[in-house]
Amino acid sequence: MHKGLQQFIETQIPLIDERLHQLLTESPMPENLQKSMAYSIDAGGKRIRPLLVIATLQDLGGRSEDALTVACAVEMIHTYSLIHDDLPCMDDDDFRRGKPTNHKVFGEAVAVLAGDALQAVAFRSLAGLVSTSPEKTVALIRLLSSASGPEGMVGGQILDMEGENKQLSIDQLETVHLNKTGALLSFCIEAGAILADVDEEKSRLLRTYAKNIGLAFQIKDDILDITSTTEQLGKTAGSDTSSQKSTYPSLLGLEGAEKRLRYHHQSAKESIGFLSDKESLLGMFADYIVERSS
Ligand code: IPE
Ligand code: IPE
Ligand code: MG
Ligand code: MG
Ligand code: MG
Repeated sequence: MHKGLQQFIETQIPLIDERLHQLLTESPMPENLQKSMAYSIDAGGKRIRPLLVIATLQDLGGRSEDALTVACAVEMIHTYSLIHDDLPCMDDDDFRRGKPTNHKVFGEAVAVLAGDALQAVAFRSLAGLVSTSPEKTVALIRLLSSASGPEGMVGGQILDMEGENKQLSIDQLETVHLNKTGALLSFCIEAGAILADVDEEKSRLLRTYAKNIGLAFQIKDDILDITSTTEQLGKTAGSDTSSQKSTYPSLLGLEGAEKRLRYHHQSAKESIGFLSDKESLLGMFADYIVERSS
C-alpha cells in the first residue's frame, strides 16, 4: 500500500470509529440490540467506504464538519448489508470480519433487527448534519436511499440471488455488480463531491471513477473468494463456488477476470487525471482496491 494512503487510513480510522460509537449510542435501546449492532460495527472492517467519502473531499480541497457523519452513515448501511448478506436465507455464511457472523452469535431474529436498526440510525445521522445546507442534506439522504434501496444495493442483492445456479451474460453480471456493490461505493464519491461543492464536469469524471472502482472492487472480491483463504479474508473463502454464484471468474475464468479488473483500474485512474499534480488519495485507493489481499 502507498505510504501516503497508509498514513491517511491510520489517521482517519480512529476518528471514524469514534464518531460511529457516538452515533450508535445517542439514544437508548435494548441492550441485546446495542450489543449486536456494536459487534458487527466493531468487528474490524476495512472502512473503505467512509474513507472514500473523506478522501474525495480532501482531494477536491474541501472541508466539512459533517464529512465524518456522512462517512459513518454509509458504513452503517454497508455493515447492515453484510449482516443480512450472511443470513442463512441469503449467502448462509458463518464468518465475517474474522469473527462468527452476527446471526451465529445473536440469532437470526436479532441479526435481522440489528441490520434494520443500523439502517435507521444511518438516515437519522444524515438528517442531523450540522453544517450542511438543508438542500444538500436532502440531496445526500436521497442519494443514500437510492444507493442502498431497490434501485441500488437491495435490487442488486435480488439479482445476485437470481443469478445462482445459472449462467448470466457478462452484461447481466455487470448490472448485478454495479447495483449490489457499485451503488454504495458511488455514493461515497458523490457525497464527497457534494460536500466539496464540485462543478458538473468534475462530478461527471468522478462518477466515471466511481463506476470503475465499484466494478473493480467486486471483481476483486470474486477473485479473492477463490484464490484466498478464510483466514486471510476473515470471511468464508469459496462461498461463491459452493452457492454456485455467477461471478467474473466463473464466467471469464481467473485470467479473464483479472484482465477485466485491470481494465477498470486503468479507466478509474484515467478519469481522475484532473486531480493529480501530486498523487491523489483516490488514485492510491484505486491501486489499493485491486492489490488488496482481503
Ligand atoms: C465486502 O465489502 C462486501 C462487498 C461489497 C464485496 P468489504 O470488503 O469492504 O468488507 P469489510 O467492510 O472490509 O468487512
Ligand atoms: C455482497 O456481495 C454485497 C453486499 C453485501 C451488498 P458478496 O456476497 O460477494 O459479499 P461477501 O463476499 O459475502 O463479503
Ligand atoms: Mg452476497
Ligand atoms: Mg456474501
Ligand atoms: Mg463475495
